[in-house]
Amino acid sequence: MMSKVPATVEWSEDGGGVVRMIDQTLLPGELVMLDCSEVEEVARAIERLSVRGAPAIGCAAALGMALAARRSQAQNLATLLDDLSRARERLAATRPTAVNLFWALGEIERAVEAAITLDPDGDVWLTGPSLTAEPDDVRAAILQRANEIVADDLQRCIAIGQHALELIPEGANILTHCNAGALATAGYGTALGVIRAAHAAGKNIHVWVDETRPLLQGARLTAWELMTEGIPCTLICDNMAGHVMKQGRVDCVVVGSDRITATGDVANKIGTYTVAALADRHDVPFYVAAPVSTIDYELRSGDDIPIEERDPAEVAYLAHRAPEPVCPDGVAIFSPAFDVTPSELVAAIVTEKGVARPPYEETLAAMR
Ligand code: MRU
Repeated sequence: MMSKVPATVEWSEDGGGVVRMIDQTLLPGELVMLDCSEVEEVARAIERLSVRGAPAIGCAAALGMALAARRSQAQNLATLLDDLSRARERLAATRPTAVNLFWALGEIERAVEAAITLDPDGDVWLTGPSLTAEPDDVRAAILQRANEIVADDLQRCIAIGQHALELIPEGANILTHCNAGALATAGYGTALGVIRAAHAAGKNIHVWVDETRPLLQGARLTAWELMTEGIPCTLICDNMAGHVMKQGRVDCVVVGSDRITATGDVANKIGTYTVAALADRHDVPFYVAAPVSTIDYELRSGDDIPIEERDPAEVAYLAHRAPEPVCPDGVAIFSPAFDVTPSELVAAIVTEKGVARPPYEETLAAMR
């Protein structure tokens, strides 16, 4: 049942403690592990998408905090908390859209709170006079919580896959966009977890893989994961999805998400909204698979989700690889990394707690 893909991101005690991850920028050509020994290296790895996908970004950030604690020379709690505060700020500034990043940093903050004695007003990132824990106790608490976040993420993905089985018909042709697989999580995947579970259940499925410009997460990563698992799949360019739907060759769409509002609007990789609109046009159910940590209960509208804009060079050069740009030098380029699919286009949202259907305001609230 478990993925054959190596751990996407994990803690290793090698070299006095490192955050180890697959460098996804090199896939599928090379499977290279990247060891980050400073929090700045973790932040840069998140920014250049060596580690990517909402849950995996959260895991990397949590482990990055453990790394910051380990590397801090602080002999007293106040200095350690100052170092942690700086690390948190750096990691929080890496990518704005995936709420799992901020969720994971919040979880680490709570672990620190639990490990120290708070002053009565209790903001742990401000040092108070009654902070009494030893720095090493706090370091240990952060590492323990970060490792739990990684382990829990894997279990959540497996649960999502099981809950989604009822949605996937025998012999289904499933279209997916971007990579919401083992590489985008601690393992197994959200959307690809649904696909893995259906395949393991003997449902005889086939997957249409959108290539996912500009950085080709579908072509490079999803196709690689599916082939590694022996799950039948066919790669298409993003602009072919409507054609295969019109031909009646898609039974459902399953994607992951970077942030879901309390009302069920779904941010995911740029192009997801186009797929959802096409699915609506062709009466194909559009499903979203994500852990509850992807739900931002503070937001009521997808319009309020911050959308990352990325380097125009990612559009100008194919997957950052080809030596020549695919466009004239100096052309204006707009490169939003995500879009928002309104809830009315979403047939169901599957979390580790079960399958939510509209009205999402009620069904997602029940999963909190
Ligand atoms: O820019 P990326 O590669 O981090 O974007 C990833 C996605 O959009 C995924 O679909 C999403 O994070 C869900 S991953 C389980």
